[in-house]
Amino acid sequence: MTSPIPAQGTVPEPTAPAPAFDAARTRAAFDALTPEVMRRRGSLKWSMYSGDVIGAWVAEMDLGTAPSVTDVIQRAVTDGSYGYMAPETAWAARAEAARFQAEEFGWQVSVDDVSLLPDVLSALGAVIAHHTRAGSPVIVPTPAYMPFLSIPALYGRECVQVPALSRAGGTGAPRWELDLDGIDAAMAAGGGLLVLCNPWNPVGRVLSAAELDAVAELSARHHVPVFADEIHSSLILDAQATHIPYASRPAADPDLTFTATAASKGWNIPGLKCAQLIASGGARRAWDANARCRYLANETAALGAQAAVAALRDGREWNACVREYVHANAVLVAQALDGVDGVELTVPSGTYLAWLDCSGLPLPDGVSPAEFFRREPGVAMNDGAAFGSGYEACCRLNLATGRGIEELTVQRLVDAVSRLRG
Ligand SMILES: Cc1ncc(COP(=O)(O)O)c(C=O)c1O
Repeated sequence: MTSPIPAQGTVPEPTAPAPAFDAARTRAAFDALTPEVMRRRGSLKWSMYSGDVIGAWVAEMDLGTAPSVTDVIQRAVTDGSYGYMAPETAWAARAEAARFQAEEFGWQVSVDDVSLLPDVLSALGAVIAHHTRAGSPVIVPTPAYMPFLSIPALYGRECVQVPALSRAGGTGAPRWELDLDGIDAAMAAGGGLLVLCNPWNPVGRVLSAAELDAVAELSARHHVPVFADEIHSSLILDAQATHIPYASRPAADPDLTFTATAASKGWNIPGLKCAQLIASGGARRAWDANARCRYLANETAALGAQAAVAALRDGREWNACVREYVHANAVLVAQALDGVDGVELTVPSGTYLAWLDCSGLPLPDGVSPAEFFRREPGVAMNDGAAFGSGYEACCRLNLATGRGIEELTVQRLVDAVSRLRG
């Protein structure tokens, strides 16, 4: 019997040509977004808080998705095609993920080294459960994407927070840096896994080759695996920044490296459940040898895999348009907050998330900045306390919205600060 899977190295051709992309129309549609439109759509971001509250928290975009993704979903709806994943679809998603890494970041990945799974967090859970020393703590540089701090406990593991080194702005050096000595100490003390988020949610930093190499050196010296979460790699905003996959660095030991990524952030399709785990060498062998890890491929959505192909292969112009648009939002917010006493903004180089340090605001006792801005002017951001110990005076602002909504958001923030100062 011949295998239905196309020969290795080939990707099935699209069954229909990708719809033409119109950047001007796309931008005009973004510009036309209003809070009322977003509330009608009913996403989590806009439905969590009632009343006249702008949803600027959870990492969803208000910007829809690429026409190529919409097209593939519409075709599935028309055909009533909601079945199990065909082998060709799984192969295509894995192959497109490999091709995307090579074309965008110069990282040559074998299709055999790409596995599908529902989401990045299930990859993290599987790595903790099956590919770390039993009972070993998980090392998480902070501020950190919130679930990194809570997931280790689900596996009976301690989470060791390593706070970033933060510098005053204006020196030309990055505002937030990994504390490599702190990571070294946590590994020396028995840490069993390092979670490396690059680009870094919530501070939006794109890590340098030197930092990645330093992490690789620590990983090799202490024999501690690295979980490289690169879900935001398709969201580089700053033209000067380049995403470098951790695993592409020669110093990163393939036996100790698991990379997780997805089209879900860059194309705004997290609900479609198709992420990718990339591993080679001993890490790949260990993943494939574990039945629970392998089984995650069966839990991946077929429609998500089709959407991932449509995004990674045919949706790059849309993604580039979004990045340019969100970058302009970041500039707008930075200009508006420049000179606002008590609020220090970290403008992201990657991700669509901005980090606000509000420790200079004279807030009432016991009121966090996120609570103040949600209650007072009606802007719902994420509370800094959720990102690790010591960030209670911070909050995270989601920039992936229409220009009109961004202008309204920042106006509300500025006015609220001026009222606060009386
Ligand atoms: C850094 C990071 N990792 C993982 C996730 C969650 O990804 P998934 O839905 O694929 O588990 C997010 C979502 O915001 C994220 O920002």
